[in-house]
Amino acid sequence: MSRAEEVLVAEGLHKWFGKLHAVDGVSFRLRRGEVLSIVGPNGAGKTTLLNLISGVVKPDAGRVLLRRGGELIDITGRPPHEVTRLGLGRSFQIPNIFDGLTVEENILISLLTRTGRTGVVRRGYRDFPELDEELREIMETFGLGEVRGRLGSELSHGMRKKLDIAVSFALKPMVLLLDEPTSGLTQGEKRDMVDLIKGLRGGDYSFIIVEHDLDVVREVSDSLIVMHEGRVLAHDEPEKVLQMSEVISAYLGGYHEAIR
Ligand SMILES: Nc1ncnc2c1ncn2[C@@H]1O[C@H](COP(=O)(O)OP(=O)(O)O)[C@@H](O)[C@H]1O
Ligand SMILES: [Mg+2]
Repeated sequence: MSRAEEVLVAEGLHKWFGKLHAVDGVSFRLRRGEVLSIVGPNGAGKTTLLNLISGVVKPDAGRVLLRRGGELIDITGRPPHEVTRLGLGRSFQIPNIFDGLTVEENILISLLTRTGRTGVVRRGYRDFPELDEELREIMETFGLGEVRGRLGSELSHGMRKKLDIAVSFALKPMVLLLDEPTSGLTQGEKRDMVDLIKGLRGGDYSFIIVEHDLDVVREVSDSLIVMHEGRVLAHDEPEKVLQMSEVISAYLGGYHEAIR
């Protein structure tokens, strides 16, 4: 499969919440291996857009297409578990992990789900030696090895965010959506997260990342979308977008100050 081929296409997506036009005609194409970042002020519609793509919220209009082998299939409005099974992973603004299970048990659940097993994972229970190697690899990749035996509830915010992404990653998605992966992280944790994303990119994985920190955006992205009031204000290479006078004057100036 060619690297440049499209893995995800959003076409004319719309979502209204009552009279609020939260997503107002968003279209874009994501290619294999691409990291696409989305920035925009609070309320711009970024999370709603991710929800439309991942099936958490149904669009009022528009389509979402996902690569499945040689073709793009229509996944619009399909439920999240089905979208996940088709190869689209998702991490959340607020980490979505099991507090009562350990780090490795959280990841194990994803591995079992992916391999089609319904094994019950309870505290302290595990009997899946065939998954040990992959489990270890994922914990190493995400820097979670040292806390493998800790409960979700015992982790720092930074570790919880990493675990949340590791849990999605263990499902082997083709496209991974990350909603504010660095929010609330210390500078050191942020550095870790940037290195992690840079380590994962370049392979077959593609990412859509909602991110406020423009330094992070510059460092990890191939392309950048600026969203404002539900619409795409600009979509191009990060440096080009960040230099666009209309983006700077009409928007990023105030935005940048607002988030600092
Ligand atoms: N489930 C919902 N019901 C009603 N309004 C919503 C809902 N989800 C989001 N909104 C509104 O839609 C707008 C876009 O929200 P959101 O997508 O969360 O923005 P962002 O992630 O860019 O901050 C906001 O005004 C928000 O209050
Ligand atoms: Mg949001």
